[in-house]
Amino acid sequence: MPKTNKLHIDNSGIDPVCNKSSGSDFYDVVNQSISRRRFLKGSLSTAVAACFTSPLLAACTSQQAKPAYKPLSFTAVAANRMDTVSVPKGYQTQVFLPWGTPLTDPNAHFKADASNTVLEQASQVGSHHDGMHFFPIDIKQGGSSSSEGLLVMNHEYVDPDILHPHGPSSLPRPQNEVAKEMMAHGVSIAHIIKTPTNGWQLVEKSPYNRRITGFTPMQMQGPVAGHDKLITRYSPNGTMTRGTFNNCSHGHTPWGTYLTCEENWAGCFINTDHTQPREHSRYGVRTEHSRYYWETATPASDDTNRFNASRLAEKASDDYRNEPNHFGWIVEIDPFNPSSTPVKRSMFGRFAHEGVIFAPAVEGEPLVAYSGDDARFEYIYKFVSAKPYYKATASGELLDSGTLYVARFNNDGSGDWLRLDINDTKFQQTAADAGVHFSSQADVLLNTRLAADVAGATKMDRPEWGAVNPATGEVYFTLTNNTRRDAMQTNAANPRAENAHGHIIRWLEANHQAAERFTWDIFLLGGEAGTHTASSKVTLTADNQFACPDGLWFDYHGTLWIQTDMSGDLMQGGAFGNNAMLAADPSSGELKRFLVGPVDCEITGVVTTPDGTSMFVNVQHPGESMGDGKFSSHWPDGNGARPRSSTVVITRDNGGIVGT
Ligand code: FEO
Ligand code: CA
Ligand code: CA
Repeated sequence: MPKTNKLHIDNSGIDPVCNKSSGSDFYDVVNQSISRRRFLKGSLSTAVAACFTSPLLAACTSQQAKPAYKPLSFTAVAANRMDTVSVPKGYQTQVFLPWGTPLTDPNAHFKADASNTVLEQASQVGSHHDGMHFFPIDIKQGGSSSSEGLLVMNHEYVDPDILHPHGPSSLPRPQNEVAKEMMAHGVSIAHIIKTPTNGWQLVEKSPYNRRITGFTPMQMQGPVAGHDKLITRYSPNGTMTRGTFNNCSHGHTPWGTYLTCEENWAGCFINTDHTQPREHSRYGVRTEHSRYYWETATPASDDTNRFNASRLAEKASDDYRNEPNHFGWIVEIDPFNPSSTPVKRSMFGRFAHEGVIFAPAVEGEPLVAYSGDDARFEYIYKFVSAKPYYKATASGELLDSGTLYVARFNNDGSGDWLRLDINDTKFQQTAADAGVHFSSQADVLLNTRLAADVAGATKMDRPEWGAVNPATGEVYFTLTNNTRRDAMQTNAANPRAENAHGHIIRWLEANHQAAERFTWDIFLLGGEAGTHTASSKVTLTADNQFACPDGLWFDYHGTLWIQTDMSGDLMQGGAFGNNAMLAADPSSGELKRFLVGPVDCEITGVVTTPDGTSMFVNVQHPGESMGDGKFSSHWPDGNGARPRSSTVVITRDNGGIVGT
């Protein structure tokens, strides 16, 4: 008999609104219309101008040397609510590496009733696939293989209704269920190879195949490593840590490592003390129970006791009051070194990191990367390394020193990067004016959100993925939605009250990727057919209406891929159909729906092989629990099976470049 599922787990994945600061975006200018230059209407002249005024000249030159490229020649896929993956005519799909695929132990076969054990899950592909990158197998030797590589992907969260045969048991949570949920989080590294028939397969028993989970030992690096606020029972000197959770999007470095980003981690912890410290309260650490009730795990273990961050002992080294401070970071993983210890790079700041995206690295120039804080009314950040990038010597050490900035989008179409730097006179003054004290740069980084409040950043409509146009250096960012913004809170960069459909913003740095000024406009407003974006002169049609943009990626040929993450009513009825992926030609504004996912899924994570002929897309959380062991989707296995998050490989019948 199935157990009665008494436990309700809220898996909505949206952090509570934690930003109570007055902030800078409550300008008196509401819905100010912007009349400004269109800095990239795709004209070749503008792109070339960008080449001549930026250090991206080398990148531009190689881009221009490529043969003529015809974007978006496929026929748009119609919006639909089928329980399948729809792609254009002339394309084919292969389901690849679904949750539970044996990865490090070929004998740990997936059991369709979800009865795999904790140890089996630890050696299988995790659940809820998200951000992903393909590393050519020969990249460290300067190669660009499109037939063999390491596919590295995040596993953002778990659905206990799907992960366990009869869903989660009642409280307290059994230790084995909690441990399985922690094992299903993290990252998978899969050594994959192309088959003679244009498909892809896992290289079984490859030493590269690896799982990173909620248990994996990791190092803290950068200014926050060793800080008093990182002292825990597990880490008495604040330099070691355990595991990573809620890894949403990702990034990859110019030296061939993977970056996984910790997003909705705050919901994993409780702190029941009368007053929470600011490094908990500003992030939404819970006061009653955590999302999955992991703190109730029975029998208790040190691995699960840490989810209770209340002060339980005399000293920090005897409890886990500081455990939440080990999360909210970006984690660097070397997929080519299976015994390497992942490193949390604290210089990127601490928030609900969606992902991280690097501007093209330029020899002798600082490295520049962007990261969004995905919660309502949070911010967009930029990291500029202190040391210049040199290809021959570049390593993760470059990420340990530099300047963290936060974005202010002015209503006149200009923008400023505001320094979150304790040595910066302006930052010191604004902090003093606000009555906020930071004791060190480490304290600033631990409390990145508060530092950004103080600096006067613009509160955004949930920043998700970013993408940098490799030809021009222009940066695009998705703002997925924010139904909590009221009319008085609108500004030019977040122009819609109760923004249910989201939008995509873009900017161009003043004269250099590391500049402290930029100009911006709105590339696309989400919405139904007829929705018009004045700044880009795009009007949506049935072929491209969309809502809640999330995943975003420029492929190696300059096409911008946009993935959607609608939920609730938007997904259940109306014009949009299931979540989808669109392709955009930013130079012409052309936009077409390329893929529609199965029922109740989100489409997230996209990358191609360097030659563009194989595309990998992640389908996350198909099918919701409808009670009694029934699910709204049976994708990909069909026949009443429980749904499984999975990668989909997309190729063309003619072997050509995907998206052309
Ligand atoms: Fe995990 Fe912001 O989507
Ligand atoms: Ca996302
Ligand atoms: Ca999302």
